[in-house]
Amino acid sequence: MLTTNLALKAIPEEQPPEPQQSYLLMTKADIPAFLALQAKVIAALPEDKKHYLKPRTAEDLEAHLSADMPVIVVKDHDGKIIAQALVTLFNSPAAKNLGDYPNIGTDPKAAVQAVQVDPDARGKKLSEVLLNAAKIEAAKLGAASLLAKVATDNDSQKSFISTHFTKAAENVWDKAGRYFANYFQVALAKSEPLLRPV
Ligand SMILES: CC(C)(COP(=O)(O)OP(=O)(O)OC[C@H]1O[C@@H](n2cnc3c(N)ncnc32)[C@H](O)[C@@H]1OP(=O)(O)O)[C@@H](O)C(=O)NCCC(=O)NCCS
Repeated sequence: MLTTNLALKAIPEEQPPEPQQSYLLMTKADIPAFLALQAKVIAALPEDKKHYLKPRTAEDLEAHLSADMPVIVVKDHDGKIIAQALVTLFNSPAAKNLGDYPNIGTDPKAAVQAVQVDPDARGKKLSEVLLNAAKIEAAKLGAASLLAKVATDNDSQKSFISTHFTKAAENVWDKAGRYFANYFQVALAKSEPLLRPV
């Protein structure tokens, strides 16, 4: 009888894929949690980098949600918000801090603002989750392009580049905040059903 000496290798068990971090849309009940995270993020910024975030008030957030503009959040396993960002159409009554944007992007335009991640959850690409979610939510609002304003000295520009935003205007002086900003944009595909009936 023919015998072989081949050691049989155990077939590695297929590993389940890493769960994709998913996002939620904030409700008014989450406003205190949004404000708490915002305070933590701003407190963690060095004194000369506070211009990275323009703080929102409870009233701003109320108005934003009442106008049906989305606030994207990522929560941890305990339901605590660890990342958040606002999306708004330029022509929304709740639009804020959009007056100085240069004429870039295709109408109707939306902006993603107040992108922030809990300092204890940094380095996990949650900013990319927020920006990709912002594209989806802006497209759902009917926007053809999504814009963002980022201080030129802010490393978060990397997250915009990695989620396919491109720089559309450079070194624009923000008089009120006294810093230079770059503006980013991305074109949005119309949200169409993926499959067509045959
Ligand atoms: C900018 C910000 C949103 C990035 O969020 P994030 O989810 O941590 O982003 P990433 O995981 O891609 O990490 C970004 C960079 O942070 C740095 N980083 C990585 N791990 C880190 C950690 N544990 N702690 C601090 N910084 C870390 C790295 O430089 C990383 O760059 P890399 O991709 O080259 O490694 C977040 O830092 C933040 O909230 N900053 C303050 C508010 C702000 O500036 N918002 C942007 C307004 S436009």
